[in-house]
Amino acid sequence: MQLKQAVDFAYQLFIENDVPSPRLNAELLLLFVLNRERAYLYAHPERELNEDEQSRYDEVIRERARGCPTQYITGHQEFWGLDLLVSPAVLIPRPETEHVVETVLELVKEYRFDGPGRLKLLDVGTGSGCIALALASELPHAEIHACDISDDALEMARTNAARLALAGKVLFRKSDLLAVYAGERFDFIMSNPPYVGEADADKVQKQVREFEPKIAVFSGREGMEIYRRLIPQAHTALRPGGWFVAEIGYSEEQKVRSLLAGWQDIQVTADLQGIPRVVAARKPQTIGSPVSAIPSGAREAL
Ligand SMILES: C[S@@+](CC[C@H](N)C(=O)[O-])C[C@H]1O[C@@H](n2cnc3c(N)ncnc32)[C@H](O)[C@@H]1O
Repeated sequence: MQLKQAVDFAYQLFIENDVPSPRLNAELLLLFVLNRERAYLYAHPERELNEDEQSRYDEVIRERARGCPTQYITGHQEFWGLDLLVSPAVLIPRPETEHVVETVLELVKEYRFDGPGRLKLLDVGTGSGCIALALASELPHAEIHACDISDDALEMARTNAARLALAGKVLFRKSDLLAVYAGERFDFIMSNPPYVGEADADKVQKQVREFEPKIAVFSGREGMEIYRRLIPQAHTALRPGGWFVAEIGYSEEQKVRSLLAGWQDIQVTADLQGIPRVVAARKPQTIGSPVSAIPSGAREAL
């Protein structure tokens, strides 16, 4: 079969099986099998697949047609310009989660702190490591911690850190939310926690429901269980004036705001579809404690 015919065949199969972006997926999977860049398909549409390529392509398009995400088949997902490895042990990083990284980078510019040492950040529920690694690539002198409750996710996050030459930049630990950080204080605590309600399981895409880790997606019946535990823990672990930055689910803004009573400077950023997606809130300064600005010259050291 020619490359063009192979793509057309997969396209039809994907249409019949409700696979989103059917042509794009058909092309990406063929390029994965051929280990080629996109331009190759357009330059050689009539090139014949050999027997081995044909049988591998048949295998991967059938996997995709039964719902397995393309990223779990190819093993890769780009995030913040970084090539991350992914497996069914971790959530596939989403483009909207880049707003968490953007928000932290924006707030860091104006952040004032009186803590000793370096700016200290913690990513809770790191999964593939995407948020922590993106921030490590941008803030080479910050002290970045990341945790997850899943051993398999932590293994993937550590592998990604090593592949990106960021292994020494992020300290990964196993933890149920902030349990292992008792007594530690942070300037920023970020999280893209699980936030889908079990009651809404039938509303999420089949590929999420059936293929992504349940512990990464669901959070109690209403989707709020992790926020309910995480927000008070973050409040304790932040330095006065420190920021909590979290991704929120569709229609969760009001419920999350109600958990942030007593926090300051609450701001919500919408994603590219206009859906409120990232909430940031500041732990109040302790009354009477003067706050010194980051000394000039130290800013580039962040
Ligand atoms: C929605 S995924 C986010 C993964 C990654 N940060 C991202 O944005 O793609 C949530 C992550 O939180 C982890 N998680 C779930 N419950 C947790 C808990 N109680 N403590 C720590 N991590 C938890 C899951 O294993 C999963 O990796």
